[in-house]
Amino acid sequence: MSSDEGSGTKAERLQLVAARAATCTACDLAATRTQVVFGDGNPEAPLMLVGEAPGMHEDATGKPFVGRAGVLLDACLRENSISRKHIYITNLVRCRPFTTESGAARNRPPTQEEINACRPWLEQTIDIIQPLVILCLGAPAANVLIHKGFKMSQERGQWFEGRYARYVAATWHPAYILRLQGDAYEAARRELVADIAAARQKVI
Ligand code: URA
Repeated sequence: MSSDEGSGTKAERLQLVAARAATCTACDLAATRTQVVFGDGNPEAPLMLVGEAPGMHEDATGKPFVGRAGVLLDACLRENSISRKHIYITNLVRCRPFTTESGAARNRPPTQEEINACRPWLEQTIDIIQPLVILCLGAPAANVLIHKGFKMSQERGQWFEGRYARYVAATWHPAYILRLQGDAYEAARRELVADIAAARQKVI
């Protein structure tokens, strides 16, 4: 039985899908992950955030956005009086992509093959939660959920009527903001806060 045919609450249905995803071997990341980082938050929430992929801390804990990027994201959510219990948060890819090419393990962006392999889990998650609003964190999620070739510098903060939700927009990934400094950091952080505020407006 596929997830969308299941009965029960959204939480119960998500749990069933997460249990299946936990043994996924659809791409090579299965061989190096500690665990699948399925998603977190409130399955009844009208607002879903979709990031890129788990990093080291997420791989270790099984929760999305618990490292430095997550701390920044939580602060920006808090500025909008939003906590994790008000949203559902997940990633485009649910196992940690990393490279050991230059010695220590370093996060790397997911490949197109990894994104394609993980897409059914994302689609099933969206299908169960049926969010009114999706906010993509970073261009990779926007490429999948809004349109191919999404240009963050030009299209950030614009609302699209999506195939996956009534309102879909994309904003800066918090990990990108953390790489900026000074005024550029503060400007991008303020834009992330404003984009979350706009998403909040759509659901109230
Ligand atoms: N970056 C992401 O895109 N997702 C996480 O879960 C953590 C960092």
